[in-house]
Amino acid sequence: MELLQRPAFSPMKPMAAACPDWLATHLQQAGGAVPFSRFMDLALNEQEHGYYGAGRARIGTQGDFVTSPSLGSDFTALLAPQLLTWLASLSRTDTDQRLSIVEIGPGEGHLAHDLIAQLCSSDSALLPHIEMVLVEVNPGMRQRQQARLQQVDGLSVRWCSLEQLRSDPVRGVVIAHELLDALPVERLVWRDGSLQQEWVELDQTHGLRTTHRPLPVALQDEIKRVCINRGIQLPPPDAEEGWTTEWNSALPDWFATVGAALDAGVLLVIDYALEAHRYYTARRSEGTLMAVRAQAAGLSPLHQPGEQDLTAHLCIDVVAEAAKRSGWLVGDQAKQGEALLALGLAERLHDLQQLPGQRLAEALQRRETLLRLVDPSGLGAFRWLTYLWGLPEGGFSLAAAPGNSESPRD
Ligand SMILES: C[S@@+](CC[C@H](N)C(=O)[O-])C[C@H]1O[C@@H](n2cnc3c(N)ncnc32)[C@H](O)[C@@H]1O
Repeated sequence: MELLQRPAFSPMKPMAAACPDWLATHLQQAGGAVPFSRFMDLALNEQEHGYYGAGRARIGTQGDFVTSPSLGSDFTALLAPQLLTWLASLSRTDTDQRLSIVEIGPGEGHLAHDLIAQLCSSDSALLPHIEMVLVEVNPGMRQRQQARLQQVDGLSVRWCSLEQLRSDPVRGVVIAHELLDALPVERLVWRDGSLQQEWVELDQTHGLRTTHRPLPVALQDEIKRVCINRGIQLPPPDAEEGWTTEWNSALPDWFATVGAALDAGVLLVIDYALEAHRYYTARRSEGTLMAVRAQAAGLSPLHQPGEQDLTAHLCIDVVAEAAKRSGWLVGDQAKQGEALLALGLAERLHDLQQLPGQRLAEALQRRETLLRLVDPSGLGAFRWLTYLWGLPEGGFSLAAAPGNSESPRD
């Protein structure tokens, strides 16, 4: 996700906002208050009113935020050969083999749409065996994807849930592009010498406000286990009163469910992600959570639930721990800028010079997009992270430039 503006909100200030009736009903049913993670889940995924549930999300330059695939087809054109290389390594000799490209959380369907067009214009011998599978939990978004994908054909496309895939597991590549940053997170706050869990409650004036409660034992144990295994200090030394961060408890179940949907495969996660020492640091005192709308961030996360996106960065170490715990092999990682350069972005930029003069506007626009995709202060800093299921280590590496030594293989 990339935005034009990012003023910060401060979790140190008490947060309060009006509560819509649909959300008040959910909160009342839960006894008047819910952990922040449940609030985030409702705000995004409540099937009738949530930002994604209702299909309200608008992704692209005219929408609330842009993602790499929403900027044009160059991103997917660069990604496609990487996917084909992995599919070739996964392919078997039988004639009726099926190879699946599963996209989880396809948003408006930009990536799937461009990928189908891209693969169909390739001369890959694998093409007759490839199907596209879209996994989307929100009906409103699924409708938008179906409308966009009606415009392309040439590849078999189906929508199904991970639970459905479990009964007929597939072999192939799974893509989670800016999905994990949309999974509901816990907010943890350092108060009065202990780490506390943020809750969202309905007050007497029908407003929303945050409160804090002691960590439930299960969450406390989970945090302790991951921190010991990964050498994370949480809170970090020097954290001040009110220091706030995010914790993603949904990851282990998510990895287990995706694994169960696969016979064997490579998972490519693309997201804004930080190492633990950059995520859980005293300086990052307000966490990574952002509320986003109309290309701007900064409103309170409690503001107009269902009308704005909520997103939190990933901690690479916490994700790796969840993957390993669910039986995945942790593979490679690269910054998006490195990955796209290794996949031929510079050559693509160069080729734009060959476009005829009457296509100058197109050439300039694509040039701007290509540079934006590798901009180290924006989309170029995104991480490409791979995980392997049912496969031996090696043979499924990321075609990224060498020298990525920040966090070596797990
Ligand atoms: C931030 S958007 C990413 C869109 C798209 N991948 C892109 O990069 O343009 C998140 C998408 O994931 C979907 N989503 C959220 N939680 C999901 C889950 N648990 N399983 C599958 N899809 C989910 C949302 O409905 C939405 O389509």
